[in-house]
Amino acid sequence: MSSDKKFCQTNKCLMVILVALIAAIAIVCVVTFTDEDAREKANKKAALKWWQTSIVYQIYPRSFQDSDGDGTGDLRGIRSRLGYVSSLGVGAVWLSPFYKSPMRDFGYDVQNYTEVDPLFGNMTDFESLMQEAKSKKLRVILDFVPNHTSNESYWFYESERGNPKYKDYYIWSDGLTCPSGCTDTGGRQPPNNWLSVFGGSAWKWNGIRNKFYYHAFLDSQPDLNLRNENVQKELEEVLRFWLRKGVDGFRADALKFMFEAKNVSQDEVGLRDTFTWYETDNHNLTTNLPDVYDILKNWRGVLEEFANDKFLIAESYGISNEVRNQYYDHGSIPFNFALIQYLNKSCNALCVKSVIKNSLADLSPSYWPNFVIGNHDNSRVANRFGVEMIDAFNMLLLTLPGTPTSYYGEEIGMRDTFYSYKETKDPAGLNFNETLYQDHTRDPERSPMQWNDILNAGFSNGTPWLHVNKNYKLINVKTEQLAKQSHLNVYTQLAKLRQNSAFTYNDLTFVDVDGNPEQILSYIRTQGAAKYLVVLNFGHSYANDVDLSDSVGSDRGRIVVNAMSGYLPNTTISLKQITLSRGQGLVVQVL
Ligand code: GLC
Ligand code: MG
Repeated sequence: MSSDKKFCQTNKCLMVILVALIAAIAIVCVVTFTDEDAREKANKKAALKWWQTSIVYQIYPRSFQDSDGDGTGDLRGIRSRLGYVSSLGVGAVWLSPFYKSPMRDFGYDVQNYTEVDPLFGNMTDFESLMQEAKSKKLRVILDFVPNHTSNESYWFYESERGNPKYKDYYIWSDGLTCPSGCTDTGGRQPPNNWLSVFGGSAWKWNGIRNKFYYHAFLDSQPDLNLRNENVQKELEEVLRFWLRKGVDGFRADALKFMFEAKNVSQDEVGLRDTFTWYETDNHNLTTNLPDVYDILKNWRGVLEEFANDKFLIAESYGISNEVRNQYYDHGSIPFNFALIQYLNKSCNALCVKSVIKNSLADLSPSYWPNFVIGNHDNSRVANRFGVEMIDAFNMLLLTLPGTPTSYYGEEIGMRDTFYSYKETKDPAGLNFNETLYQDHTRDPERSPMQWNDILNAGFSNGTPWLHVNKNYKLINVKTEQLAKQSHLNVYTQLAKLRQNSAFTYNDLTFVDVDGNPEQILSYIRTQGAAKYLVVLNFGHSYANDVDLSDSVGSDRGRIVVNAMSGYLPNTTISLKQITLSRGQGLVVQVL
């Protein structure tokens, strides 16, 4: 080859080089894009906050584990059970109040926000609970009750005595002149017709201050005046106090009651005179006033002083989507109570589907969804829907998008416990008579946790504050841990499965169920190559040979979790013929 022979002079040669160049560029692009894709996914996962990948487990401290034999659960008891909690596969515990309290509303009447009630232990117990939780990688969320304090709190004591610093910490009113029959109230009557959630007028005469004070809940729970900046600052300090102790966030109580109309001379229109109608009547002057949003924003600011991944979930039942969005926009997650509020025993698969659809509709991508199926204020799943639905509802809750919250005992299928009127402790029940109390009492869902089949189900060596459910010999953690098939088993399998990113990202896609839409609820959760199909019978009858293959686009699947059905785990099934009775469910990996 002569030295002056130029490299590649022919057209053919140039073409070959051009094609090779294009191919090389294409390969580089593909590799980069695939890489980018993977990176984006990894970033997305890394960017998720812990509360987006965790199940929250609610503990009602009075009823979880008693350590000292006084019959009431306590912090040391909870600490001793964190091993169990973490074995469930949940990522966080939310503790209902354990602060100093006269316990009229069992801790939701806070006397001192930064003190542990002796009934539950002391601050050292709390700190060791925190340590234990951290060592088990469990996050801790506290209950925060900003709407009201106990009437035995220092603030209220000073307020009723007119101490200038505290006199406007609560909502006081002179009321109106009473034409007759108001001898106990200095000849005065309440300023308006506003009602308490727990029944009767929301105004209580105070003979020390000689004024009425407003209470959305019990008269032993006076509402704080959140328009007072000092009150706001005090509450922010409460958050800081617990954040300094290392807590990961808060569940904020009763937020829709935070503000009332300034002008108390107005009545709420259309209230029915019996106090059993609270929930269904319209309380436009005493609930959902927009002033709460700025407060939420301030709290978010306080949380950010500590870290950018603190959790703030807000309790407000029955809010509109508009209000919901405002909660999101101001730095909190509004609890989504749809599964509690809009489902009942007669609800079939179509009805469950529409409730889920509505929950996820108009939820912009920046609004993280959440679902909750039970808590200390509502009957247990077994009683609301029937015992045959326990696994189905756990399966639903743990396969839906967003953050799920489970109430203690639901993982073993605990039932409501019957308490006679005489045994009843909950003031929400005792405010009513013997005929009506059962519609209002919340004791049944607060019965002690059932750990084993010996004395008091392992809850306490003493006499439990509420007696243990008589079914504890059959329904308890130990028995279910040993059994091959149990609610607990299903729950832990689901919790484990949930770590798969298919259950973390993206919305679910409903699957068309031709022929059995009333019985079968089915949806797909997917991420990358992973594709999981959830099939649940929420109907009132047996569904035979359901063919989901066309809608799913595959004929076969592998059973990953089986709730109550005859299918065996890990077997391959045909998606053309799925048979499930009411309450049975499957999670299937689509093949
Ligand atoms: C919330 C709590 C409830 C309590 C009420 C008053 O709704 O969940 O248990 O009784 O607030 O604090
Ligand atoms: Mg105790």
